Amino acid sequence: MKGAIFFSGKYGSTEQYANWISKATGLPVFDIKDDRADPAGYDYLVLGSSIIYMKLSMRKWAKENLSKLNGRSKILFSVSGAGPSDKLERWVAKSFPPVLLSQMEHVALGGKLDHSKVNWLIRLILWIGSLINPDPAASKEERYGFDHVDKNSIEPIVKMIHELQASEVSA
Ligand SMILES: Cc1cc2nc3c(=O)[nH]c(=O)nc-3n(C[C@H](O)[C@H](O)[C@H](O)COP(=O)(O)O)c2cc1C
Repeated sequence: MKGAIFFSGKYGSTEQYANWISKATGLPVFDIKDDRADPAGYDYLVLGSSIIYMKLSMRKWAKENLSKLNGRSKILFSVSGAGPSDKLERWVAKSFPPVLLSQMEHVALGGKLDHSKVNWLIRLILWIGSLINPDPAASKEERYGFDHVDKNSIEPIVKMIHELQASEVSA
C-alpha cells in the first residue's frame, strides 16, 4: 500500500504544510500542476488545498480526476483565513463531489496572507471585501493580512497517516 500527498496552492502555505506532512510521514508530495503526478499510482491519497474566494482551489482538478481519486482519497486538509467553522465546511462541501467528501476526513489548517505577495487587483478586491465584511476580525485580516500557519496543527493528519501506515504493515 503506497500513499501520496497532492496539493494545490499559490502563495506557499499549502505547499509548506504538504512538505511538513511529507517529512513527518515519508509520503511523497506532488503539486497538482505537475502533469507527471498521477494519483492512480497510489493506494491512498492525502489532498491539500487552499481556499480562494470561498472554494477549494483544487476543485476543478478533483472533478477532472474523480475516477482516480474515488476510493483512494482518505484525508483532505484545507488552508484558509477562516478557521474551522460551519461556514468553512459549506465552502468545502460545494467544492468537492459528495462521493469524495464521504470517504475523507477534513482537517482545517490556518493560512497566510501577505499583501506584498499578491497583485494590485487582488489587493483591491480584498480591500473592497474588507469594507463589506460584517465580521470585524475577518475584515481586518482581509485588509492587513495575517499569518495563521502553525506546524503543530498537522499533528492530527500525521496521526491519521501513521494509522494508515500501521494498517498496511499488519495487512
Ligand atoms: C485572492 C484570495 C482570496 C481568498 N479567499 C479566501 C476566502 O474566501 N476564505 C478564506 O478563508 N480565505 C481566503 N483567502 C486566504 C487564503 O486561503 C490563504 O491566504 C491561504 O494561505 C492561501 O494558500 P496558499 O498560500 O497555499 O496559496 C484568500 C486569499 C486570496 C489571496
